[in-house]
Amino acid sequence: MRALMLGPPGSGKGTQGARVAARYGVPHISTGDLLRAHVAAGTRMGRAARVYMERGDLVPDLLIAAIVLERLAESEPSKGFVLDGFPRTLEQAQAAYGVARETGILFDVVLCLDIPHDELMRRLDERGRSQGRADDEVATVRHRIEVYQAKTAPLREYYEGRGIFLAIDADGSVDEVTGRIFAALDRLPGA
Ligand code: AP5
Repeated sequence: MRALMLGPPGSGKGTQGARVAARYGVPHISTGDLLRAHVAAGTRMGRAARVYMERGDLVPDLLIAAIVLERLAESEPSKGFVLDGFPRTLEQAQAAYGVARETGILFDVVLCLDIPHDELMRRLDERGRSQGRADDEVATVRHRIEVYQAKTAPLREYYEGRGIFLAIDADGSVDEVTGRIFAALDRLPGA
């Protein structure tokens, strides 16, 4: 299983990505979690990323590429992974495709979590109150959604054209959404 989780902030990429990874016994690699760990540890990369993340902007491509490659090298990517948060722009997707073609590590499936705007605002507002994640403040969430629409949403068409795209209705309880994802994965040819 080599899967990409795609979807707007708060759609459940982290929550569902962990469940897909557990089902297939592969690592769940979240660029957001990796970046937050770098920020918390005060590494050079974390210090460089922090200002972008707090604004709700994307961190520079070179920085994110270095972080993802470093993490992928720790496991055996050919044995599978669930990648959550990368690629996030067409430029990142094209760069990733170049590396993947050389190494033979291409995505099997792209799971795109679709969710109404009001529900993702509700989820992130709740998390902002309970966990205090720095970028869950309302104005920053709005900006993250704008960035998603401008930079990440075009990936949908990019992957639809490659025949590996699965749209999932992500509105519902965590278990309901997991059920829809597993059912869609079970319908894939060769599953
Ligand atoms: P990242 O951490 O990836 O943030 P995000 O995409 O905004 O996504 P979230 O983590 O907010 O939401 P999610 O979709 O994972 O949902 P979750 O499962 O957490 O990235 C953070 C930042 O890092 C970016 O803004 C950028 O600066 C930088 N970055 C990362 N990758 C980058 C890249 N490739 N290039 C450049 N910059 C990059 O769920 C959200 C909440 O809802 C949780 O509280 C959860 O418990 C709850 N929830 C989940 N599912 C349900 C459900 N079904 N019902 C009720 N509640 C639910």
